[in-house]
Amino acid sequence: MTESFPGRSQFMTKPYQQNPSSGLTRELIEVLFPMFEQASAGAIAVDRDSRITWINASYASLLGLPDPQAVIGREVRAVIPQTRMDEVVKTGQPLLLDIMEHDTQQLVVTRLPFYDQDGEIQGAVAFVLYDDLQPLTPLVSKYRRLHQDLVAARKALARKTRGTRYSLGDFVGASPAALEVKRRARLASGRDVAVLLLGETGTGKEVLAQAIHSASSRAERPFVGVNVAAIPENLLEAEFFGVAPGAYTGAERRQREGKFQLANGGTLFLDEVGDMPLALQAKLLRALQEGEIEPLGSNKVVPVNVRVIAATSRNLEAMMAEGSFRSDLYYRLNVLEIPIPPLRERLPDLGVLCEAILEDLCQGLELRGEITDSAVSALASYDWPGNIRELRNVLERALTMGEDNGLLDADAIFKVLPRSSGRPASSLAPRPIRPLAQTLAAVEAQAIEEALVASRGNRTRAAKLLGISRSVLYEKLAKLS
Ligand SMILES: Nc1ncnc2c1ncn2[C@@H]1O[C@H](COP(=O)(O)OP(=O)(O)OP(=O)(O)O)[C@@H](O)[C@H]1O
Ligand SMILES: [Mg+2]
Repeated sequence: MTESFPGRSQFMTKPYQQNPSSGLTRELIEVLFPMFEQASAGAIAVDRDSRITWINASYASLLGLPDPQAVIGREVRAVIPQTRMDEVVKTGQPLLLDIMEHDTQQLVVTRLPFYDQDGEIQGAVAFVLYDDLQPLTPLVSKYRRLHQDLVAARKALARKTRGTRYSLGDFVGASPAALEVKRRARLASGRDVAVLLLGETGTGKEVLAQAIHSASSRAERPFVGVNVAAIPENLLEAEFFGVAPGAYTGAERRQREGKFQLANGGTLFLDEVGDMPLALQAKLLRALQEGEIEPLGSNKVVPVNVRVIAATSRNLEAMMAEGSFRSDLYYRLNVLEIPIPPLRERLPDLGVLCEAILEDLCQGLELRGEITDSAVSALASYDWPGNIRELRNVLERALTMGEDNGLLDADAIFKVLPRSSGRPASSLAPRPIRPLAQTLAAVEAQAIEEALVASRGNRTRAAKLLGISRSVLYEKLAKLS
């Protein structure tokens, strides 16, 4: 097939164009071309319209083309989507070294333009220098790392422009309690109903709210969060519903959109909804019921279509009982309730949480970010009032203080773990007498939990530690959940 390379006699690169009649130059190229072609893992040529004029057998087989003749005359991009030969033809500039993704392969390629006697561009030729990247391992692994970073950065950017950073995979945990949270979150993303997230500080309410939105049919629309507790009471109404132009004299002359309008079509995340003053609760209820809002200083209503995800760390039922939270609003917000357990109630997740957080903290640093089993057990001795946020802080401090290149052992943890453990020492606390079966069941549940903590949630190892079979452990876990 080499024989039929049509442009071969005119295969000239730009520098030689100054002296096109030089026989030596042309000879040189004619000698070089077959050498290049043979040493490479494939070669291809295109004309000035970037249509394939020639391809050798090795490239055709590398690309998995059963019939090389069939691609002659086709646009090169239709055959090799990641090619840049058309760019070379257009600019006349060679691309001497490039890595090209093709399917799952990464090919090192060189691409050169070629000219006719008058210096007019005729087309381009490309050689695959390596298809097996073994000799280039250091270079390629660096490239792969950069490529992965790029993919991650693009994803992060896409999420940011949509207003979210988290997806359901970011809610780490495999304990029965965590799995139940995820099950409900998936349910919530499939239905366009109001969701109420209940959990202490740092349990992941924001993570879940964003994750539900990202997996919902509104994912491409905005996610707008508003923290009710963080906004002064007298500004809340404007923040929610916006301000009509000229509503106030002075600063607020221009129209300002409220969070409802900003979230239109998407999701409105009402964080710390328990901190909402009663007067605003009434207005919020009306907006949700009617699907329309009235900006401050306006007498026109604006239709809005938002899905509300509300969150609170407060006990809304107690607040309703004392009259500080409207029950009608509560039922509007609480169509699907997701209680998020505090970390102390899902200690078996400590191991996987540590791994995920350490990986995140060590990203881009030359740190190992590993934690020993005994260090995880040390973490389990604490009661975590600040939950996962606090766990993250503790691990960050341990990494900063640690000397061992990012390996955290029990000592490193004890150095930074807050001393006060709010957990009552169980042997000292007076315990009510219960039927023996209940006491035994409680002790068994605790033993299982401790084994899961020690094995970082690995059930096979936990079963071994307990001296029972894996299937018996599964049975017991099923009864517990
Ligand atoms: N299940 C989880 N897996 C991994 N990281 C988590 C998880 N839950 C929370 N986090 C991390 O913990 C931190 C706190 O989470 P988040 O802000 O969602 O908590 P929150 O419940 O909204 O807290 P607050 O009530 O104080 O606002 C974040 O850094 C988040 O990434
Ligand atoms: Mg929050």
